[in-house]
Amino acid sequence: MANFVSASILSADMLNLESEIRRLEKADVNMVHFDVMDGVFVNNISFGIPVLEKLGKASRYMELDVHLMITDPLRYVKAFDKAGADIITFHIESESDTAETIRTIYEETDCNAGLAIKPDTPAEAVFPYIDMGMLDMILVMTVEPGFGGQQFMDMSEKIRKIREYADIVGEYELDIEVDGGINAETAPIVKNAGANILVSGSYLFRADDMKSAVEKLKK
Ligand code: DX5
Ligand code: ZN
Repeated sequence: MANFVSASILSADMLNLESEIRRLEKADVNMVHFDVMDGVFVNNISFGIPVLEKLGKASRYMELDVHLMITDPLRYVKAFDKAGADIITFHIESESDTAETIRTIYEETDCNAGLAIKPDTPAEAVFPYIDMGMLDMILVMTVEPGFGGQQFMDMSEKIRKIREYADIVGEYELDIEVDGGINAETAPIVKNAGANILVSGSYLFRADDMKSAVEKLKK
């Protein structure tokens, strides 16, 4: 399975988003990771629909990978679809009905559906939703959601269990994305466990040579 890199725009230079998009494209980043925070589900507020619309217009090659850290994602999935999202990922710990939210993304939007789990949520929690056959991706958080630049937490066991389960169900290829503290040192740990989409914020945007930083994450 090929590895993909999704750059978390939370760590970008907010005053120069268009040139940041160009920089990501030149570095062969595959996706733009867009962290939406509502100040209730997590202790932080980031950005939302109007910013996503602009990013979609600026980005020529990269997919828009939207990570909703909000209390009621079901209420907003169609709006994020309309704003240009390619993947909509929401949290199992949110207050929306999980199955209904997955079904709505699958049936009523053009987006791929992702389900995210926080560090304390066990792998088994996502199994019934993988069984629905409508999920494209599981996002395993390797930090508590809310902020960039945090210390990586090793979730290898959890990733391995989800990869094994998806292989047993086996009807389609499930992506496993990891998010939080991913850099050249932690990337091999998550890839060995079975993750194939690596979100990276502070490591990528701080790198002197972004292209070689991306290569290190992908290989
Ligand atoms: C945290 C966000 C992450 C964050 C990753 O809540 O979901 O996407 O921006 O940033 P780094 O790579 O700096 O940990
Ligand atoms: Zn994220």
